[in-house]
Amino acid sequence: MIDDVRSDPLRGEHAPVLLDEVLAALAPSAGETVVDGTLGGGGYARAFLDAGARTIGFDRDPTAIARSKEWAGRLASGSDDRFTAVEAPFADFEEALDGLGVDKVDAIALDLGVSSMQFDQPERGFSFRNDGKLSMRMDGGRPDAGDVVNSASVDDLAAIFRVYGEERFAGRIARAIVAARADAPIVGTLRLAAIVEGVQPKGPPNRIHPATRAFQALRIFVNDELAQLAAALGACERVLAPGGRLAVVTFHSLEDRIVKRFIAAHAAGAAGRGSRHAPVETQLTASFEPIGRKPITPAPEEVLRNPRARSAKLRAARRTAAPPLNLDPSTYYSAPAAPSLEDIRS
Ligand SMILES: C[S@@+](CC[C@H](N)C(=O)[O-])C[C@H]1O[C@@H](n2cnc3c(N)ncnc32)[C@H](O)[C@@H]1O
Repeated sequence: MIDDVRSDPLRGEHAPVLLDEVLAALAPSAGETVVDGTLGGGGYARAFLDAGARTIGFDRDPTAIARSKEWAGRLASGSDDRFTAVEAPFADFEEALDGLGVDKVDAIALDLGVSSMQFDQPERGFSFRNDGKLSMRMDGGRPDAGDVVNSASVDDLAAIFRVYGEERFAGRIARAIVAARADAPIVGTLRLAAIVEGVQPKGPPNRIHPATRAFQALRIFVNDELAQLAAALGACERVLAPGGRLAVVTFHSLEDRIVKRFIAAHAAGAAGRGSRHAPVETQLTASFEPIGRKPITPAPEEVLRNPRARSAKLRAARRTAAPPLNLDPSTYYSAPAAPSLEDIRS
């Protein structure tokens, strides 16, 4: 191992969340092929390489890919030629694997959300700790968060904050944004954070910052994060070899619900959809079996060491030998009652 992948988050590295638990669920080994759908700082990927697996890492953020070339360049020979980095959204990973001539893989990890590096770069606009241009796009594209706050209607803004941020004061925040942008466009993260904070009742000092939910909502919205997850899960069913393992770490209840429903629907098999049918039939057609009955959350020591881990949940499942069910994604993901990115583009 070249660096300690459990690095201290205060040093500007991304400290991988639930790493030991993900390794226990995925059990990567020499000769296997593992997909890391969310390379980030490469914490998981380096651990998969350490275990001897061929590792194909995806990230939609070009800076994560550039960084992976740096750390991969420092890997011991023998590990470096087992690593491939691909700049692409994970919803497209099946196609990308096809392009690499890879048909089936043995394990897939998804560790959702943003990395500490993204969060700690003010110019990316993810954080309100320092001022930065309101972007929040992981891939730098448009529309970005600035486009949304400066062009969406009050109703659309309120829906985005309510649905993706589960924000109680969504309507108030939306109205305050529309009033503020009439004076001047909202360009920086600190101005947006002040507008959001200004309409909320003062809470106890230990509460999360009042702008946290609104920022999270905008980030999930502009990166289309829920639809990305649903599409990637469908591909996991087709790409995992029999016995292959899937591990997904989520940080938001909407994401966790999608993963939970995906695993439950595929573990119920063709016969189990919407009813309680014969167990024998279920065994023959279920394409996944859950690994563990409950989601795994970080131990208190991990949360103390790395407060960003506090809302993490890991769910894992093993691919059976049954053919893919190719369920309609609406079985496990219902598009939220909020505007789409297309609505903002037009
Ligand atoms: C929480 S970090 C992953 C950290 C990583 N497990 C580690 O140990 O360093 C999430 C990463 O996933 C990337 N990401 C998020 N959504 C993505 C998507 N739909 N497609 C590809 N990459 C995505 C982000 O750009 C970010 O770099």
